[in-house]
Amino acid sequence: MSEKTQRAVFATRIGAVATTVGSAVGLGNIWRFPYEAGTHGGGAFMLFYILFIFILGVPVLCAEYMLGRGTRKNVFGAYRVTQPKGSQWHLAGVTGILASILILSFYSVVAGWTVEYFFGSVSGALTNNPSQDLHERFAEFSGGTWRPLIWTWVFLLTNFVVLLRGVTKGIEKVSNFLTPMLFVLLVIFCINSLTMSGAKEGLEFLFRPDFSKIDSKVLLAAMGQAFFSLSLGLGCMLTYGSYFSPRTRVVRTAVTTAGLDTLVAILSGVIIFPAVFTFGMSPSAGPTLVFEVLPSIFNNLALGRVWSSLFFFLLILASLTSTISMSEISIAFFVEQLNMKRTTATIVNTSIAFVLGSLCALSFGPLSDFTIFGMTVFNLFDYVSSNILLPFGGLVVSFFVGWKINSKFIENELTNHGQDSCHVKGALTICLRYVAPIGISLIFLNTLGII
Ligand code: PHE
Repeated sequence: MSEKTQRAVFATRIGAVATTVGSAVGLGNIWRFPYEAGTHGGGAFMLFYILFIFILGVPVLCAEYMLGRGTRKNVFGAYRVTQPKGSQWHLAGVTGILASILILSFYSVVAGWTVEYFFGSVSGALTNNPSQDLHERFAEFSGGTWRPLIWTWVFLLTNFVVLLRGVTKGIEKVSNFLTPMLFVLLVIFCINSLTMSGAKEGLEFLFRPDFSKIDSKVLLAAMGQAFFSLSLGLGCMLTYGSYFSPRTRVVRTAVTTAGLDTLVAILSGVIIFPAVFTFGMSPSAGPTLVFEVLPSIFNNLALGRVWSSLFFFLLILASLTSTISMSEISIAFFVEQLNMKRTTATIVNTSIAFVLGSLCALSFGPLSDFTIFGMTVFNLFDYVSSNILLPFGGLVVSFFVGWKINSKFIENELTNHGQDSCHVKGALTICLRYVAPIGISLIFLNTLGII
């Protein structure tokens, strides 16, 4: 990030919350949450997801905010100025860079599907055909070659132009205003879903944990989703924390961000699962779930075309504020560590995502048989980044802030240099020192079958 933006500060508390929520709320909530919940047993997944948001997500979010605001630097710089002399903690930033590029690649494919659906809604092609089997139509589209590729490229180019022209702030302003609108739409769709015949079954699936379904896969997936959804473990929130004003209250902001983000995910689940059971679909369809279900919902709504155009438009914007935040991570790295110009760094970032994103876009069609460890490129990137790299980044940052930073630094960040009171310092310290590092390690070990 440039020196100029580095020194910028969010003027208001709302500004700080809105921008971090802008990064957090996106396809992770509306697309990834329902599909992960659907493939991992519904209620069992939900239970652990919520638990992990609060015992791992909020503390790690606080750690990133504190490290960012206390140093006013990006992830590498933040570790550099606070780490004990001679240690190499800043190298942990490398997993964040890798994660940011992998996520940008597959995220752009899903954002590309959203763009297709937006145009389909505007033209009426998506919703004016109630008799047609909508989910077959999606399979046909996503399994093709050119359309998924082209929409992925269109999205990546839009992201590129926004980053390059430095209109990030503009987009964030617009989206600060439009995210609440997305929220209102979700509430309306929720009410609609609750009136469906499959509502009871859908809600039971999502909220009633079936304890027999809990296994290491569910735990890992719920932890990965918590990190992915909060944009944690790669330095995004740390970078945003570096823009917080000295008055911003770290813990409050973290709880608000996590609360709003979780609420959006739950709303999305409440929209999708009643519809899944009403239309006799399978909750475990995987990454395509939401795109198969949503058109059926819009089809059954009065003015469906208007609702769906508006919804997909807002979802594109929400995706863009998320991809902007993840792109900044690798761009900052290229600029500050490899001395590239910002323009070159942005081109490199987009070019890598172009190539990797194309492989992801073809994972549902021509490359669907090309698998590594039994996963398509799309699924592999999704799995490795969300379930491994992000929690690993979270483990490092919580351990670092919990054990390696002097406690005066933390005290200052939590109380805004003594101006505010903070009653949760003890609990937060316990979470950062013990709960998060040990919890994340246990889940990793459990996945590897060691415990
Ligand atoms: N949290 C974003 C979402 O839910 C995705 C994201 C992940 C953004 C990691 C930045 C970094 O859509």
